[in-house]
Amino acid sequence: MISRRAAVAATALCLAAVFTFGQDSAAATSKEPPMKTVIAGKFTFNYRIDGANLVAKVSCKTNGWIAVGFNPKSAMQGANLILGSVIDGKAVVSDEFGDGMFTHAPDTVLGGTNNIIAGDCTQASGVTTLSFTIPLDSGDPKDVKLVPGAKVKLIFATGATNDIKKKHKDDATKTITL
Ligand code: HEM
Repeated sequence: MISRRAAVAATALCLAAVFTFGQDSAAATSKEPPMKTVIAGKFTFNYRIDGANLVAKVSCKTNGWIAVGFNPKSAMQGANLILGSVIDGKAVVSDEFGDGMFTHAPDTVLGGTNNIIAGDCTQASGVTTLSFTIPLDSGDPKDVKLVPGAKVKLIFATGATNDIKKKHKDDATKTITL
């Protein structure tokens, strides 16, 4: 015969098991899908294709702005650039275009549109992290079309400060298959 104390303990154990299971499944469903990782110099680039969008994150050890660019023709020219910095404690994320080999400007200044769906930039412990979601094919002539399975040249840069008008102190390039 089971004692009253044993019955209470068994019931508590069952409830704990159900509760734990509930917690695990909630955690599993709220988990972000995995991202691919690309290392280029001091930059770490993470990305995943999410339907018609690219969800991406770029970070490196720096106290300044950070940027990633897609498919330049030469240096920065023709690249779709996403720049991140933190100004007065606020994240600034800008959709830009390489309008010259060593110059860039916001798409909106060059006759295009801002196509960033979501973006954030944080700075902590000497690391700047820029996260953003952009369409694979925005249709904006000041962006570039990204095709899953095709090669993409990535360019990266970071500045010594948060002034995105100032030239980078570090840069890197890497070609990947998206
Ligand atoms: C803020 C304005 C910028 C200026 C004035 C600038 C200027 C330059 C210059 C003069 C070079 C030639 C090499 C050197 O002198 O170091 C260069 C190279 C480079 N820049 Fe920029 N840059 C700027 C922003 C950016 C941004 C936003 C990115 C990337 C997202 C970038 C990525 C690169 C890369 C990857 C190289 C090397 C190119 C190669 O080796 O083919 N730059 N930049």
